[in-house]
Amino acid sequence: MEIAARYEVVLIKEVSIIIPTYNESENIALLIHRIETMALDVQIVVVDDNSPDKTADVAERLGKKYGNITVVRRPAKNGIATAIRDGMLNSESKYVIVMDSDLQHPPEVIPKILKDLRRGRDIVIASRYVRGGQSDFSLPRKAISRMATLIAHINLQETEGIKDPMSGYFGFRRDLIKPEQIVSNGYKILLEILVASGTKNVSEVPYRFNRRKNGKSKLGIGEFIKYIKLVLSLSNYLMLKFLVVGLTGAILNLLLMRIIVGGFNEPIYLGAIVALEASIISNFLLNNYWTYKNRKSNGTVFRKYLKYNMMSSLGSGIYFALIFVLTLFGVGYLLATAIGILGSFSTNFGGSQGVVWHL
Ligand code: GDD
Ligand code: MN
Repeated sequence: MEIAARYEVVLIKEVSIIIPTYNESENIALLIHRIETMALDVQIVVVDDNSPDKTADVAERLGKKYGNITVVRRPAKNGIATAIRDGMLNSESKYVIVMDSDLQHPPEVIPKILKDLRRGRDIVIASRYVRGGQSDFSLPRKAISRMATLIAHINLQETEGIKDPMSGYFGFRRDLIKPEQIVSNGYKILLEILVASGTKNVSEVPYRFNRRKNGKSKLGIGEFIKYIKLVLSLSNYLMLKFLVVGLTGAILNLLLMRIIVGGFNEPIYLGAIVALEASIISNFLLNNYWTYKNRKSNGTVFRKYLKYNMMSSLGSGIYFALIFVLTLFGVGYLLATAIGILGSFSTNFGGSQGVVWHL
């Protein structure tokens, strides 16, 4: 890992505003002026990855003028997350605020973030999705953003109740995490901080996510794939484990049917009941002692088992209902079954996360 070069003496202020930049020479000056006119007594840390358009030089020139700017120069483009980490390593303030340099994050929200931090919040998120917030995204990007938020809510219980866990604009008490805990190289550093700290002491303040005027977004499909990988690893691969358990359950179910009905010549309905409950028990045990072994959720194992049975019945109900209704409307039976499986999987998974093994 490269060592970030340090420019100027480290200033110790109450707040460091960390701004990662890559080819933002047109935006950074405007942003810095807007922050400076608020006279906030902050340190601004610009972390630039050797932008070809010389963003770092622009920031450095402004640093000579204002005196509260630290420019961290990194040798090559290495992602926002590590830029923020290196920004933290180059500042020692009590609070850290992270924001983009492209003016999509209006700096006028900084005082509101600061107010909540001073009131003792661990993390304060500038949020597009609380009352008063807004997002000037194009429709497809809005949809992607909502989907990504949903994926986070499903997989990471630490994001429960947080409307905009994907925000790139937020503040936190710097001793909440060690900079070294930031290990991904993707965009979703807030998720990492939420999971690493496990804090529920979070508030959201509304802001309007503006359209970008100059330069262009560095977010592409590659980031989405990185995002999925990040969510899976942050969640300890919960969803994949759950899926594997479900598959073992299905195999066990088939196997028992073969033995009970095929081997012992018992009636089919009896085989179906025994095989089903056996696979529910086996799924439950595997999920309890493997998938969710790290969850310190409340309740005895037996209570969880009862709840799990309820969730499984609900899942089966949804499976049958979907097939019934969809075929009624002319959907082919195989497609209807596939949708039914998806529906019952979602119910089972959601119920397991949100009810049975709820944190
Ligand atoms: N140092 C450094 N290195 N900075 C980078 C890099 C990099 O590899 N990649 C991007 N940046 C800087 C950009 O210059 C900009 O200031 C900021 O990080 C955000 O990059 P954009 O490319 O403009 O991101 P976006 O607008 O598509 O997405 C933003 O909004 C999302 C929704 O709130 C980001 O803030 C996301 O994190 C956020 O989820
Ligand atoms: Mn942007």
